[in-house]
Amino acid sequence: MVKINFLDNNNNLKEIKANNGSSLLEVSKKNNINLEGSCGGEMLCSTCHVYILSNHIDKLKKQTDEEKEILALTKNLKKNSRLACQIKITNKLKGLIFSVA
Ligand code: FES
Repeated sequence: MVKINFLDNNNNLKEIKANNGSSLLEVSKKNNINLEGSCGGEMLCSTCHVYILSNHIDKLKKQTDEEKEILALTKNLKKNSRLACQIKITNKLKGLIFSVA
């Protein structure tokens, strides 16, 4: 179990307990965060676009070219953009803060 945090549109920070090995998309859905993820993690949709707000970018698994290509199609791409379906929860992500793009 890893404690991470979700920042909502009203700037409220919510602590979430995430299971190791789950994807950030799965964790978001379990915690009623409004993150669509319509392709179910197949990297076909980009509706699981999130921003990593804490200093954890380097601790995430490196982006694949496929993920970069999908993210490049989004309108609001930022340096800290990632697909939540591609982020696996590990102990290294303790304290991570994310928001929905
Ligand atoms: Fe579709 Fe992540 S759920 S790309």
